[in-house]
Amino acid sequence: MAQQLKALKCEDPLPLNQSERLNSALISWFEEFGKNYPWRSTNDPYEILVSEMMLQQTQVSTVLERGYYRKWLERFPDFKALSSAAEEEVLRAWEGLGYYSRARNLHKIAIAVMKDFEGVFPSDLSLIEGLPGIGQYTAGAVASFAFNAAVPAVDANIARVLARLFEFTERIDTSGGQKQLWKWASGLVPQSGARSWNSALMELGQTLCKAKSVQCQECPAVSWCLSENPLELPVKKSRPEITEIQEYVVFAFEGKRVLLEKETGRRRKGMWKLPERAAESLSGLNLLTVQKYGITRYRVTMNVYEAKKESALENEQWFSIEEVENLPMPSPYRRVLQKIIKV
Ligand code: ADE
Repeated sequence: MAQQLKALKCEDPLPLNQSERLNSALISWFEEFGKNYPWRSTNDPYEILVSEMMLQQTQVSTVLERGYYRKWLERFPDFKALSSAAEEEVLRAWEGLGYYSRARNLHKIAIAVMKDFEGVFPSDLSLIEGLPGIGQYTAGAVASFAFNAAVPAVDANIARVLARLFEFTERIDTSGGQKQLWKWASGLVPQSGARSWNSALMELGQTLCKAKSVQCQECPAVSWCLSENPLELPVKKSRPEITEIQEYVVFAFEGKRVLLEKETGRRRKGMWKLPERAAESLSGLNLLTVQKYGITRYRVTMNVYEAKKESALENEQWFSIEEVENLPMPSPYRRVLQKIIKV
């Protein structure tokens, strides 16, 4: 079958009767083997949106096992509750997941849903795409998972599955490559059952059709798959190399209060951290601890010095330990404070 189809490789790679058979094989497989995640047993667009925002850049196991998803829904059960929370509290609840713009956008979406849609999340794809921080993937995911709309949602897993299925040997991380994948997905997505179909392709990418290992003999799509060397696909630009950098911060603790600096950079805006200082200004001070962490393409070594008689610079403020508990703070700084003063 795959060889016959290979000869037919063209704009619409599968004849209609074949795409119907492929889709029913995918959906039956998913019904038998698909995992039962909490966001798969709800139609609530809020609960689905929260899962999608958390799952961008973060593994399912982190979101579930560390309780982020459950605790978030307990604290902010719906758009109304989230819209009325302070941004600091929203960032605090996101702490540990990283990529905090996702939390800020989720907050903005909740405010927009209350203000512009009377608290009811829109089901129309173009209205969903107009919400803050929602791209084509998230819009498709919420539209299909919450409303069963017949739209694709091509994430990295689905992109890999499609690139292999149709033996797509061009780069997928270009606008042309993405356009091709979305076109194939739009042509294939069934009119009814898009929710299971998107979930099935996603699950396939997470289980049998992984980046570095495949189990083709168990794959429901094997009869249609054009790929001979699946591990060579998809083609992407190689990742930038990891750069090592040093960071110098101070731990200043006076009158039971600790000095913190508010982040102004885009990525961690609004979060609090240990104040940064020039390396040269720290000579003679005691090195308290060293904490390593990764952020995007950097491997950071944070050197924490004990400061004496420090005064607050711009964007810096003194906080009691109780206040620090409730402030949003990137995890590496929280870890350091936990080590030093058990916050
Ligand atoms: N990753 C992103 N969205 C997901 C979903 N709905 N289920 C499992 N993994 C996902």
